[in-house]
Amino acid sequence: MRDPEWYDLFHRRGTRRDFLRVGGAAAGLLALASVPGCRADARLRAIGSYPFKLGVASGDPEPELVVLWTRLDPEALETVGAHENPVTIDYELARDHNFKEIVRTGSAIASPEFGHSISAEVGGLDPGHEYFYRMIVGGEVSPVGRTKTVPAPENTPDRIRFAFASCQDYEDGYFTALQHLAQEDLDFIIHLGDYIYEYAEHDRDTVRHHTGPEIQTLQEYRNRYIQYRSDPDLQAAHAAASWIVTMDDHEVDNNWADGSPEDDQSPEQFLLRRTAAFQAYFEFMPLRQASMPSGPNIQLYRRIRFGNLMEISILDTRQYRSNQPCLGGISPSCPTHISPDQSILGRSQREWLFKGLTRSEARWNALAQQVMVARIRGIDAEGQETWSMDKWDGYPLERSAMINRMADAETLNPVVLTGDIHANWVTDLKRDFDDPSSETVASEFVCTSLSSDGDGQDMTAGGERLLRRNSHLKFYNGQRGYVTANVTPDLWTSEFKVVPVVTEAGGSLETRATFVIEDGHPGAEEA
Ligand SMILES: [Fe+2]
Repeated sequence: MRDPEWYDLFHRRGTRRDFLRVGGAAAGLLALASVPGCRADARLRAIGSYPFKLGVASGDPEPELVVLWTRLDPEALETVGAHENPVTIDYELARDHNFKEIVRTGSAIASPEFGHSISAEVGGLDPGHEYFYRMIVGGEVSPVGRTKTVPAPENTPDRIRFAFASCQDYEDGYFTALQHLAQEDLDFIIHLGDYIYEYAEHDRDTVRHHTGPEIQTLQEYRNRYIQYRSDPDLQAAHAAASWIVTMDDHEVDNNWADGSPEDDQSPEQFLLRRTAAFQAYFEFMPLRQASMPSGPNIQLYRRIRFGNLMEISILDTRQYRSNQPCLGGISPSCPTHISPDQSILGRSQREWLFKGLTRSEARWNALAQQVMVARIRGIDAEGQETWSMDKWDGYPLERSAMINRMADAETLNPVVLTGDIHANWVTDLKRDFDDPSSETVASEFVCTSLSSDGDGQDMTAGGERLLRRNSHLKFYNGQRGYVTANVTPDLWTSEFKVVPVVTEAGGSLETRATFVIEDGHPGAEEA
């Protein structure tokens, strides 16, 4: 656990006096006449109220670069008449959280077209180093964030420690798991999607409430992100480490697939909705400029390498997928289901992924992606086999192709990280799921939801049934939480951290289970 005093920094609002105390470097920054590409008159001398109510974030680290994010409060800008203008945000990066050793200063323009958010790419940093950052506007100073660059490509770090999480329905529970996550000692955090939910306010009893109807427009998506991002636990988790994010369905619409919405919308209407949803996502996430959306398209699949120790391929299994076959849901098979044209990755992403699986020299090769890869066989009331068509079970030929590629290319230690289904699972990914003696090629760790579905329980009748019917499933838990991964050259250790209650504030954290994979021995075992 981190030093609580240090953790307090994330909650402490900076003041103009704090900033001025920094001395020479800060004074120099204030006197800065102009930065290339920056308008000198965009720097505010004063601001109406505290502009950093949504906190700060960082993301997509590289050996010498991190992305720094913030978004200015529109009311604070409005009181000084700046809400329709570009506004300059100054930032500082230091080696220490007291900003005694500032190593980098700069500025970025927050434009009204992007809701006065910035995702500034700050380069020239040292690989594998921890940094602290803060932003300044009109004499107001943001909370302090912590970030870290990744190790240089030729280095082999002794260990990488990160966490992965998903699914934070604001209505279903408090973000207690994120409060605990913010106190872990981590190199970075992966969020696997369902960062917001698009739903209208639920009519059932919930602990907190969405406002308005199901969201469709840019302003509605922005307002939903503002509601979520106002949560202090979510802000603390963003400030505690850099985040690597990808989206699932609820950032747009439940179970959407490429051009197909869940709701009754024309393809044109849905593409407009996607455009709005992607713009809002980009505005609120610490993403590289390469992920800036172009209309209804956004580039989210990408790769991050952590020296020779690990490579993570971050996938987008929504934007390019064929529609869910056999009318979706949990259904028996139908001809489309087993058509070779059925794809969850789309052709370009699949080629990119398969090439990466072949070429990678990293000791551990992780996929960070949305929906369950392992086969989960269900049986319906008529005794027929059923499959959950929204998951890789809806795309079984492409799943086989991917697992076979890992095996044939001898990809070192493939590990799949999954979210979406609001339960913790550990699975063996087999060459042939029908044959329990078939080769285990990779392991899959599915993290539960942070809050979606409320308190949950350790075991359910459904969980028991699926464990019984599918011998490659090794663990199930239906509580809320996240998973930490400690990766060394010899061992991958996943800890399933759960909170027993999220419908009341203040749930404690416990480690429900620990699973390890030894280098060169696919298949996770309980420690
Ligand atoms: Fe979800």
